Amino acid sequence: MKSELEKDILKALFTEEELRDRVHELGEAIYDRFRGKKPLFLGILKGSFIFMADLVRACQLDCDIEFMSVSSYGAGTESSGRINITHDIEQDVTGRDIVIVEDILDSGRTLAFLVNYLKAKGAASVIIVTLLDKPARRVKSVEADYAGFMVPDEFVVGYGLDYGQKYRNLPYIGVLKPEVYEGV
Ligand code: IMP
Ligand code: MG
Repeated sequence: MKSELEKDILKALFTEEELRDRVHELGEAIYDRFRGKKPLFLGILKGSFIFMADLVRACQLDCDIEFMSVSSYGAGTESSGRINITHDIEQDVTGRDIVIVEDILDSGRTLAFLVNYLKAKGAASVIIVTLLDKPARRVKSVEADYAGFMVPDEFVVGYGLDYGQKYRNLPYIGVLKPEVYEGV
């Protein structure tokens, strides 16, 4: 495929095929867990948009699909620590089983905040499904219920994940060349 993005990628970490196979496995596991119930899938924008689209199609449950948008990162690679809700969930979550769908669990600040937020709003249960898990950088004790892949402490982009809003449309997950963000 022609690409203006590939030149900035050091190496591919997970190919399109590997992503597809793993997302199908996750979809099946979540299906078995929620069969007969009506969970609410809550995608965290923008990073989860591609994963969410693939996951819900790999999991043919009677479900609701919602999105929230939070910001903590600026244009850099370090979390700021402060979480702002920039787009709140539109439905009432009281008594609902929530499946948070996230691109990557890094410091854990975003998901620790969201789990508390949803429980405080009256959710019956909250589970975390993250495509990627980067345990090396955790500062909050939060664990994913389902994680697609463990990733090393490198900055990764593609399949929804960005650097400065770029590379989200790369179809696989790759490690960004450090020179792209060093000196910024
Ligand atoms: P946390 O609050 O530090 O766990 O950060 C979660 C958010 O940071 C994710 O939703 C991503 O948007 C962003 N993030 C963390 N690590 C990476 C990375 O390696 N590539 C792209 N985005 C990342
Ligand atoms: Mg994100």
